[in-house]
Amino acid sequence: EKAGHRHFMAKEIHEQPQTLSDVLNTYIDGARVKLPTDYDFAATDRIQMVACGTAHIACTVAKYWFEALARLPVDVDIASEYRYREGPVGPDTTALFVSQSGETADTLAALRYAKGQARAILSVVNVPESSIARESDIAFPIHAGVEVGVASTKAFVNQLAMLLALAVAAGVQRGKIDAAREAELVAGLKLLPGIMAQALTIEDRCEALASKLAEATDILFLGRGPMYPMAHEGALKLKEISYIHAEAYASGELKHGPIALVDRTLPVVVFAPMDPLFNKTVSNMQEVMAREGRVLLVTDSDGAAQASDGVWEVLVMPTVDPVFAPLVYAVPAQLLAYHTAVHKGTDVDQPRNLAKSVTVE
Ligand code: F6R
Repeated sequence: EKAGHRHFMAKEIHEQPQTLSDVLNTYIDGARVKLPTDYDFAATDRIQMVACGTAHIACTVAKYWFEALARLPVDVDIASEYRYREGPVGPDTTALFVSQSGETADTLAALRYAKGQARAILSVVNVPESSIARESDIAFPIHAGVEVGVASTKAFVNQLAMLLALAVAAGVQRGKIDAAREAELVAGLKLLPGIMAQALTIEDRCEALASKLAEATDILFLGRGPMYPMAHEGALKLKEISYIHAEAYASGELKHGPIALVDRTLPVVVFAPMDPLFNKTVSNMQEVMAREGRVLLVTDSDGAAQASDGVWEVLVMPTVDPVFAPLVYAVPAQLLAYHTAVHKGTDVDQPRNLAKSVTVE
């Protein structure tokens, strides 16, 4: 049932080109994005997203997309905070809940808090018959199939893919994306499963790097823009399954505190595809290197050509339009954590103290 893989997590990581294409097929219609259920994003003035864990990280990536592509303001909250904070919910706010299981207690309670106040309750779920799906006005299923590994992988990528579709649909409805740009985005989406398959070929490199990362007691992850939440995804996956302490920071925050941690024992993983923020991230990376920190630069071939000098290790990812980079950079986040955990001999599919579905507060 693990289809020849050593763990469910490995199987699920390798299923991603297929599961990603499964969700894309539900909303790509020729050169257009057509949501499985219509929702009018032109009639809302704000989106409130709420989730836990990895699903919360997917929401944080989606904030960049909704704001840039649809010019729609987004707030993102952790469900356990949101449910008790007594935040005002305006009648024009769209509340959007993201959950793989659809049963997470805090996310469900947050949904019930917003219900009756928000303009509509939307959800992005993997289990269509779940409580969160049932209690939403519209549930958008992500079609990732059953996910057994406790650490979410293919569901995270499909959450991203569905949230991106919602952001593009919102951009079109709000007149911020014209037909030519929509066609360009859709063409890019169609290439993504192939690019994910290419991204998976970094596996051997990740395995080699893992033996080095496994020696660390702490690892820092850095990124800017949408790579900042992806740094969180890298740190969360690593903590969960390898039990190595990891933290994520926005690259620009480095000098406001965490740079004090940097010495020659600290691996610093930098997610930096070639995008308009690349040079800024590289200058933060150089601040780490100047203090003998060991930088693992995760970038594409252009990035590697420009910024490999003095770097400890470079992991070269396929080149992709920066809009889609979060989906592709999920792969190194997953594979670095997976192989580090395998190297340490931890229980990858059932990490200590964790449950797949958190149905109690
Ligand atoms: C991390 C992970 C968890 C879940 C979180 C929310 O790899 O799997 O952080 O993302 O417990 O679960 P769902 O999405 O079921 O609400």
